Amino acid sequence: MTLTDTEKADAARKSLEYVKDGMVVGLGSGTTATFAINFLGQKVREGLKIRGIPTSRASAELARSLMIPLTSFDEVAYTDVTIDGADEVAPGLALIKGGGGALLHEKIVATASRCLVIVADEHKLVERLGRFPLPVEVIPFAASPVKKQLEEMGAHPVLRSGQRGSPYITDEGNYIFDCHYGEIQDPAAVAQALKSMTGVVEHGLFLGLASVAIVAGPSGARIINA
Ligand code: 5RP
Repeated sequence: MTLTDTEKADAARKSLEYVKDGMVVGLGSGTTATFAINFLGQKVREGLKIRGIPTSRASAELARSLMIPLTSFDEVAYTDVTIDGADEVAPGLALIKGGGGALLHEKIVATASRCLVIVADEHKLVERLGRFPLPVEVIPFAASPVKKQLEEMGAHPVLRSGQRGSPYITDEGNYIFDCHYGEIQDPAAVAQALKSMTGVVEHGLFLGLASVAIVAGPSGARIINA
């Protein structure tokens, strides 16, 4: 394990303090959330009773392989807690997410969570969002007109590529433009502008959603409250 992996694992381990018997738990996506799902699997083997709502096919497969019972929003209205990673964490727990391409389901689960716990290594902490390219999920039919609008707003969009040079396809069959804004001065305004573009399904700005971030560095994990 690299030092960063150890930090991710430390943050993920601590996040389990937020999970109690009987809870519905949102299962995030990405390498840090994967540590958390593995730790949850261990707890389930030891007798913890939870039901999970995964935020991606990959997380669903992992949860199934660990015998974590799953549920869905057809059966429950919210998750008690969701544990997920982030690509950037700024003051106020403003986040960029979607580096792993799961931003749409992650945001659906995040908005239906009573408590969103973000797990991250301390390299994810930034003063301002935007060094990490902001993912924007777009319906393929709208890719060209949306790209034009993104260019006009100075987002420098790059279509994410998948296997063998073809576009990356999300779990919902959409494309992702990774947008290179540089430092984002007004994330709320950018979020609003993106949401107003027809054909944009979702973007990776998670503002006002996280309840707490568990951020780990070489000297251990610390908690940042919203
Ligand atoms: C996936 C995500 C991930 O949570 C984010 O990319 C962080 O991933 P990692 O823990 O692997 O650094 O938003 O869509």
